[in-house]
Amino acid sequence: DIRRRINRPVVLVGMMGVGKSTVGKKLAALLQLPFFDADDEIEAAAQLSISEIFDQFGESYFRDGERRVIARLMDKGPAVVATGGGAFIQNETRELVLEKSVSIWLDSDEETLVERVTRKDTRPLLRDGNPRDIVSRLKQEREPYYRKAALHVVSDSGPHQHTVLKILEALD
Ligand code: S3P
Repeated sequence: DIRRRINRPVVLVGMMGVGKSTVGKKLAALLQLPFFDADDEIEAAAQLSISEIFDQFGESYFRDGERRVIARLMDKGPAVVATGGGAFIQNETRELVLEKSVSIWLDSDEETLVERVTRKDTRPLLRDGNPRDIVSRLKQEREPYYRKAALHVVSDSGPHQHTVLKILEALD
């Protein structure tokens, strides 16, 4: 079965709002693998929220912590890892993930992303502008990088469980 063949971390990359954390948790439960959320790990290590880290230390400090946290997660063996939307855009972080994991680009149309990101207002990158414009710009800028992931799975606007099944097929 699939579980037995997974010998590396399975890493979800893609835009904020696509559902990396929700889908990752469900996928891990189904495969009976540990689940790690890189953003949560960064917050725990810093004892600060992502917004507080951005505010007090700036984005490049956050990216540095993100890279170190993800590097540590790449050595955990079989597991499911959700990354923040910008992680895979950083060259060093991306190279590391590409080398050490099975990376999956979780993709969605813009409408779905906007609908999902506007349910929560904890993302520093969405604070200074119209979320629709920011999501649209970031999606364009970042797609060439996300495309480098080993697998590509499209999440539609339906239930996340459906996306989990698509990931299982892609991994098979
Ligand atoms: C970011 C996405 C966030 C978080 C931080 C920066 C980004 O993670 O890491 O706010 O650059 O796209 P999610 O993708 O889980 O929202």
